[in-house]
Amino acid sequence: MRRRLFVTTALPYANGPFHIGHIMEYIQADIWVRFQRMQGHEVHFIGADDAHGAPIMLAAEKTGKSPEQFIAEIAKGRKQYLDGFHIEFDNWHSTHSKENTELSQDIYRKLDKAGLVYKKAVEQFFDPVKGMYLADRYIKGECPNCGAKDQYGDACENCGTVYSPTKLKNPYSTLSGAKPVLKSSEHYFFRLSDPKCTAFLREWINKSDRLQPQVANKAKEWLEGKGDKTLADWDISRDPPYFGIRIPDIKEEKYLYVWLDAPIGYFASLKNYCARKQIDFDAFVKPGGGTEMIHFIGKDIIYFHTLFWPAMLQFSGYKAPDHVYVHGFITVSGDKMSKSRGTGIDPLRYLKLGMNPEWLRYYIAAKLNANVEDIDFDPDDFMARINSDLVGKYVNIASRCASFLTRYFDGKVTDTTFDKFWNAYAVPQMFGEVGEAYESREFGKAIRTAMAFADMINGYFDAAKPWELAKDPGKHQQLHNVCSVCIRGFQLLTCWLKPVLPSLAIRAESFLNCEPLQFNRVPEPLTRIKAYTHLMTRVEEKQLDALFEVSKEATMTASSPQPSPAAAGEGVISIDDFNKLDLRIARIVKAEHVDGADKLLKLTLDIGDGMRTVFAGIKSAYDPSKLEGRLTVMVANIAPRKMKFGVSEGMVLAASGEGPGLFLLSPDSGAQAGMKVK
Ligand code: 2FM
Ligand code: ZN
Repeated sequence: MRRRLFVTTALPYANGPFHIGHIMEYIQADIWVRFQRMQGHEVHFIGADDAHGAPIMLAAEKTGKSPEQFIAEIAKGRKQYLDGFHIEFDNWHSTHSKENTELSQDIYRKLDKAGLVYKKAVEQFFDPVKGMYLADRYIKGECPNCGAKDQYGDACENCGTVYSPTKLKNPYSTLSGAKPVLKSSEHYFFRLSDPKCTAFLREWINKSDRLQPQVANKAKEWLEGKGDKTLADWDISRDPPYFGIRIPDIKEEKYLYVWLDAPIGYFASLKNYCARKQIDFDAFVKPGGGTEMIHFIGKDIIYFHTLFWPAMLQFSGYKAPDHVYVHGFITVSGDKMSKSRGTGIDPLRYLKLGMNPEWLRYYIAAKLNANVEDIDFDPDDFMARINSDLVGKYVNIASRCASFLTRYFDGKVTDTTFDKFWNAYAVPQMFGEVGEAYESREFGKAIRTAMAFADMINGYFDAAKPWELAKDPGKHQQLHNVCSVCIRGFQLLTCWLKPVLPSLAIRAESFLNCEPLQFNRVPEPLTRIKAYTHLMTRVEEKQLDALFEVSKEATMTASSPQPSPAAAGEGVISIDDFNKLDLRIARIVKAEHVDGADKLLKLTLDIGDGMRTVFAGIKSAYDPSKLEGRLTVMVANIAPRKMKFGVSEGMVLAASGEGPGLFLLSPDSGAQAGMKVK
């Protein structure tokens, strides 16, 4: 039966470019989607930017842009990554869209009507300078347990105690440095604990094969509660200022929490796509429409996708997801990546260095399975798998067969002996195994089976010694048979690898002179191949070196800034150039001598949204103990610089002239840590 599939990947926040974690998820889903299409199924693969929320609003503010302008610029940058890695979404949209506003307000109204929304006053910290309520991550203070300074509002990094932000001693807003005040406001809640919600979720989670076992267990644990932890209702409203969707039908200005409108963005993008393609949107999202709805997500957002999202859909008259497929994170040489820091691999740099995107697709596929496991990018392993397996085993078959077939047989392929090989080597069984592996997202297994088959073909080729057969005209029929069997094997391998290597497969199909390869039928026998052109080069060590050079390069720019072309020669910069600087008021929290350094002091600076370590060459002029507590100005967006004593994460500004003396800048009184200097 022909399946109809609506497939999504998690919507990335529109506050930065894609990192390798995003690319891994998209590659995983793209491979699965391509496999389903090769099975003859109808697939609609949908993505969008997750554009709302306080962090994006604040990030836009920092750059001096409106949130709309800010997210539009991020959106513009998406295509080069997606095209670059052959990730073929059918549509890319945004949660900041007409469709999403309509759908989110409609869903909200229906949940309200179903009696699942209620109001409750919530007391929360409020920043009187910024004029906004503060999420926990924007509050710091002293740990109520151990007294450690500058701890976040939810837990102490020093002693591990978990608390609510109102328990912090001497709390301050990381946005303005101001002392927050407690203030109450009405919030709207989604009654997740309602018996009809929990009963529905219990059934939804327990349906076999809907979720991976470890994901279902996690969801059940949250649903049923553990110890004194019971399922909490969900605060779905935010007070202004907020970049989001207005709660409809109420007088006050309140917004839907970003996590409510984000998954609805899946529908918004689908709706936008359906309008473009003139297909019926409702058939996808209403119960009984015969469409399977499948989400690929990372392990950090299981809660939202297995509790809130299905419940929201169920009680607003939509269909709940059929599957949520969860993957782990990607580490680079064992280093955990973080959302804010990214990892050692910059996907765009990878492409700009001319590295083949299909190498990365292959490597990721080879490492992926259906479990929620992290995968590691290891440069040596990467090189070995591409050069020895992909090029050395698979591509090699084509080049070795092609030279004999072209030279002695005018490219013609005989098909007479393949059947024997086909059964002797259990090819039909392998065909089935590869298909099942893709279906169940065991991509590593599909690749292993393909490579085992490549080994068989190469072994068969080597044993027949075609280079010797070629010398004896009496053995040319045998030579023709061997090369025909092997080139047919290459055709099967190309079919099996096509979801992973879509661009190479197209070139290989042209070389093989065959129809587009499908998974739902055995490829037609080959008749005559075209001249072989190179299908894939090997990875070179220097390319990997260049890929990981990035931090060094950043250091060089930091120490010797290049003048912008506009200003070159004239010493004049544009206002845009100036605006690139993120100058901030910094509070010197700590100043220390550095062992072995004659000129440097190590400064720990509070710049509102976090702490920075800066090594400053001001030892000759300042006694560190006198610096602690004072305010100064720093450049906060200069690339981190690796120094002998540690990484310096910015620059403090000081004046100096011809004569001796070095003078740190100070703002007038009233300035707070974190304020922008413009
Ligand atoms: O965690 C994240 O990056 C979110 N932007 C994912 C949202 S997925 C969906 F709900 F939109
Ligand atoms: Zn503590």
